[in-house]
Amino acid sequence: MSVAAAARAVVLASPAMNPAPNLVLVGPMGAGKTSIGRRLADRFGLRFVDADHHVERRTGASIAAIFEHVGEAGFREREAAALAELLAGEGLLLATGGGAVLGEANRRLMHARGFVVYLRAGLESQLKRLQRDRARPLLQRPDREQVLRELARVREPLYREVADLVLDTDGLTAAEAAGRLGLQLADRWSMKGVAA
Ligand code: S3P
Repeated sequence: MSVAAAARAVVLASPAMNPAPNLVLVGPMGAGKTSIGRRLADRFGLRFVDADHHVERRTGASIAAIFEHVGEAGFREREAAALAELLAGEGLLLATGGGAVLGEANRRLMHARGFVVYLRAGLESQLKRLQRDRARPLLQRPDREQVLRELARVREPLYREVADLVLDTDGLTAAEAAGRLGLQLADRWSMKGVAA
């Protein structure tokens, strides 16, 4: 049976089979959470929301300005509030910020209200994808590689802890990663408009 036919059969057999109200992407900066998430949301008929953009809209300030004025701790409070607000709803494809897994309450919430996908990226891919970034506050320093390595050391176990599924994005474009993830999710998540 083709993948499309298999997915259609699943939809017809049990239209409300989704394992969670929302699909949540976690992973480090430069894993492609936003670019992959947008593509996947389209495919699964979910509303795409980027948690950082939500924080910026609610606060009326950029992430950089928030870090500058209230520090990382102030940003984390706003991030946690955004996650709680967004995950109370359903039908979202939520791209979280790289540090969202640091809070235990955030991880519990993601696990309770989402099917969580960890988009893994190695240091080389991260550096390449982030080379033109001038906005992420944690990266505006000369020792980026060291910063990313240290963040990964602390966070990698947390991404794995919260994840229902892991996708390695190394060597993949956003379109390729979204395609691959779409296939892996097809037997767990009902799709809208599966082609005949
Ligand atoms: C952060 C990642 C960023 C953003 C903020 C802090 C982090 O999001 O939330 O700059 O702590 O890793 P992205 O992972 O979308 O870049």
